Amino acid sequence: MYSFEYEYPVKVFFGEGSVAEKLTSQLDVLGGRILLTYGGSSAKKNGTLDEVLSLIRAAGKSVVEFSGIMPNPTWKKVQEGAELARKEKVTGVLALGGGSVIDASKIIALQAVNTASVWDVEINRKGSLDHPALPLGAIVTASGTGSEMNGGAVITNEEEKIKTGLFAPAARFAFLDYHFMESLPARQVLSGAFDTLSHALETYLGRSDELNVSDDVSLAVMKNTVDNIHRIVRDIHDKEARGNLMWDSAMAENGILKVGRVTDFEVHMIEHQFGAYTDCNHGEGLAVIQPVYCTHVLDAALSKLARFARVVFAVSEADDRTAAEKGISALYDLISEMGLPHRLSQLRMKDSADVLLTDETLRRVADSTFLLAGGPRKLTSDEVFQILRECM
Ligand code: NZQ
Ligand code: ZN
Repeated sequence: MYSFEYEYPVKVFFGEGSVAEKLTSQLDVLGGRILLTYGGSSAKKNGTLDEVLSLIRAAGKSVVEFSGIMPNPTWKKVQEGAELARKEKVTGVLALGGGSVIDASKIIALQAVNTASVWDVEINRKGSLDHPALPLGAIVTASGTGSEMNGGAVITNEEEKIKTGLFAPAARFAFLDYHFMESLPARQVLSGAFDTLSHALETYLGRSDELNVSDDVSLAVMKNTVDNIHRIVRDIHDKEARGNLMWDSAMAENGILKVGRVTDFEVHMIEHQFGAYTDCNHGEGLAVIQPVYCTHVLDAALSKLARFARVVFAVSEADDRTAAEKGISALYDLISEMGLPHRLSQLRMKDSADVLLTDETLRRVADSTFLLAGGPRKLTSDEVFQILRECM
C-alpha cells in the first residue's frame, strides 16, 4: 500500500423508510433555516418534495427552495443558488436529488459564505476561500455517482467549455432510501449503474502495488455491480438488486477503494469534456468510451485487465492477453444487455449547431481533456482524439 490518510465524515442512513423515520433527527446539523435544493420536475411529480418539506417544517425549521438544478449542473446555476442562500441567510443546505443536485449543492454551500469565486480559486488558482462551507445534507434520488459520500462536485462552466471536478466538504449526512428512487426511469437506473462500474474500474486501473486490498475490494464491487445489473435488466423493480446497486455506487466513490493507491480516471476526464460540449448523459457517455479506452491501454494493463475479466466476468483463459480481450468483449456485451449506447452519436445531446460531431469538435474536446498520469499509461491529446473518433 502507498501511504495514505483516511477520514470519513458522512453519516449514512440506508433503507426504505429511513427518511421518514430519521431525517428530522439530523436536521439540527443544518441549523434553523434550510435551503432545500432540487432538480427539474421529478421530486414535485412523485410527491417526495412535499414529503421532505413537511418533515422540515414539522421539525420547526424554516425552508427556502432552490429548484431547477439541471443534469450536468452549470457554474451559472451554482452562483444563483449561492446568491439565494446569502440573500435568505440560510444556515444549511439539504440536497434532494441525484449527482447533479448534490454536486451543485456542495458548491452552493461553499460559495454562499465566500466572496472569492470557488471556480477561480480551485481551477484558476486565483484568490482564496476564507470560510468553511455551510453544512450540507443529502437525500439521494438517483444513485450511481456516489456524490453523497464524497467531497467532489462536477460542474460545467459553459463559458469556458470545461466540465470538471471542484472540491467542497462532503455532506454531513446522507440518506439512501429506495422510496426516493422508485420513480427513476429505467434508462437512468442503468446509466447510473454503469457509472458505478466505471468508478471502480477506473480506480482499479490506477497504479498500486500487487494484491493490495483496495484492488480486491474494487473487484468485489465490480462483480457485485455486474451481478445486480443482470438482475435489474430482468426486472427494473427488483428492490433487492436496486438496493445492492445503491450501496455499490456509494462504495465505489466513498474513497475506500482509493486508499493506498493512485487512480486512473482518464475515461471520466474524456467523458466530462465531451459532456461540456454536448451535455450528454454521464453514465451513457462512459459506456461508450470505457471499452474503447480499455482496448487502447490493453498492453500496459494486461495483467490487471486479465484479472478483471476472470473475477468480474468469470473468463477462464489462462493466457493474460486472451483473458483481457475476452473481458473487454464481455464489457461490450454487458453494455448491449443494458441497452446503453455503443456510439457517441447515439447519445442524447444538446440541440445546437456547435455540437455537430465533426472532427473539429472532437479535436476541441480532445485538446481540452485533462491528461492524468495515474492510469496504465498517460495518453496524449492525439490519442484522446483517436479514441473519440473510434467512439463515433
Ligand atoms: O431534474 P429532475 O426532474 O429531478 O430529473 C432528474 C434528471 O433528469 C432525474 N431524476 C433524478 N431522480 C429521479 C429522477 N427522475 C425520476 N425519479 C427520481 N427519483 O434523473 C436525471 C438525471 O439526474 P442526475 O442527477 O443528473 O444524474 P446522476 O446522478 O447520474 O448525476 C450526474 C452528474 O454527476 C456527476 C456527473 O458528471 C453529472 O454531472 N458526477 C459526480 C460525481 C461525484 N460527485 O462524485 C462522480 C461522477 O463520476 C460524475 O462525474
Ligand atoms: Zn462517474
